[in-house]
Amino acid sequence: MKHIDLVEIMNDSAYLQKDVTVCGWVRTSRDSKNMAFLELNDGTTLKHLQIVIDKNVIADPSEYMKLGMSWAVEGTVVPSGVMADSVEINAKKITVLGTCPPEYPLQKKRHTLEYLRTIPALRVRTNTFNAVFRVRSVVSAAIHEFFQSRHYVYVHTPLITASDCEGAGEMFRVTTVGVEDGYKTQAEADENDFFGRRAALSVSGQLEGEVAAMAFGKIYTFGPSFRAEKSNTPRHVAEFWHVEPEVAFAELPDIIEIAEDMIKHIIRTVLEKCPSELKFFDAHFEKGLIEKLESVANNDFAIMTYTEAVEKLLASGEKFQYPVYWGCDLMTEHERYITEQICKKPVFLTNYPKEIKSFYMKQNPDGKTVAATDLLVPGVGEIIGCSEREADLDKLLDAMQTRGMSMDEYEDYISLRRFGSVPHSGFGLGLERIIMYVTGVQNIRDVILYPRTVGSIS
Ligand code: 4AD
Ligand code: MG
Repeated sequence: MKHIDLVEIMNDSAYLQKDVTVCGWVRTSRDSKNMAFLELNDGTTLKHLQIVIDKNVIADPSEYMKLGMSWAVEGTVVPSGVMADSVEINAKKITVLGTCPPEYPLQKKRHTLEYLRTIPALRVRTNTFNAVFRVRSVVSAAIHEFFQSRHYVYVHTPLITASDCEGAGEMFRVTTVGVEDGYKTQAEADENDFFGRRAALSVSGQLEGEVAAMAFGKIYTFGPSFRAEKSNTPRHVAEFWHVEPEVAFAELPDIIEIAEDMIKHIIRTVLEKCPSELKFFDAHFEKGLIEKLESVANNDFAIMTYTEAVEKLLASGEKFQYPVYWGCDLMTEHERYITEQICKKPVFLTNYPKEIKSFYMKQNPDGKTVAATDLLVPGVGEIIGCSEREADLDKLLDAMQTRGMSMDEYEDYISLRRFGSVPHSGFGLGLERIIMYVTGVQNIRDVILYPRTVGSIS
């Protein structure tokens, strides 16, 4: 259907006084004696375009004016009668594409996010979701742009895996075996399963990413990861989008620099490409959001060791639900206190106790900590998990042995340390978490099209 995007008409004065066809859904309507006014939105912009109907041209437009109806309108683009720098369309002909009954679940009032979650197929038509998903799209493109312009190879790692990267007990099984198959033991069932052994959805593309980085030097993945953790929080979904660069010849300070540059590139891009969306979020979701993002883009992030953070938490006098001690796994309440109260900006927390981190992280000379870092940001907490990888064969084998891991399953991974091992590092960024941070939207369920969470799939 030949038509012009509303965003084009609004941003390009060349359309003034031209006849055009536009399409969209009715967002508001107002009827008066001789004229009728409608606001149309086609999803290409947050703004609605006013359609002016002269009843001498189109008699009795009331049938067209129902909320949620979809239209094609032919008419002339003219300067807005009320808003400076704005245009409207004097309608000559209206074609109804789809009608919409009065019980349309999206009414003109502001609905709560909780209510909107119950109508996932329609909530995307609201201003909030229009803005969230445009930002999500711009952020995704900015991520590709960042890595593509720096010689990274975009690789696609498998989603079905036989290795349990690091998420013991947190993986979704992939199986074609059912109760009706009647196998007596799990081992028997596994043997007769599709792959002839146990398989699961991947929690991370990192291990395969390391394989690729040892060939292409710098790689990144950008795809879904799956976690069966039963954390019913505003920050966890069972299926999330994961950005995982892996960089040969990079040590911890190098990868920290890359992560900081990437976050700043994302934020600058959103500031540049989504000004009206950010204004909307600043007004309705987080006061001061734009100022926050500008400050983050233009200032250094903090860097603090885990040990120092624990000391500061203990000295803070703050009552936490979970106790703080050296060796504890920091909880969201601790992470947020560190970034929101102590640092008041994004902070890379470094050198965690090795017992609470993964087997593949580089062991520090102190024998107690690993060269890992999490990026914590105010309002959200952890958005990046990062580390230098253990490049020494013996140390890696030792860490795997301590954790009782099966060496056979990781032969490919281990062999990277045999054949020309090099220092290398990587990180994982949760796409939904960075979207929450740049929009101020507080629940992860509201930044993904169909959230999958424990006990809920629709
Ligand atoms: O810290 P994580 O578990 O690290 C890894 O998976 C590493 N293999 C990454 C790497 O070094 N290549 O996860 C990385 C990030 C987290 O910081 C968080 O932003 C996001 O992934 N994430 C989740 N996002 C939404 N829902 C969940 N359940 C998430 N789990 C992790
Ligand atoms: Mg983590």
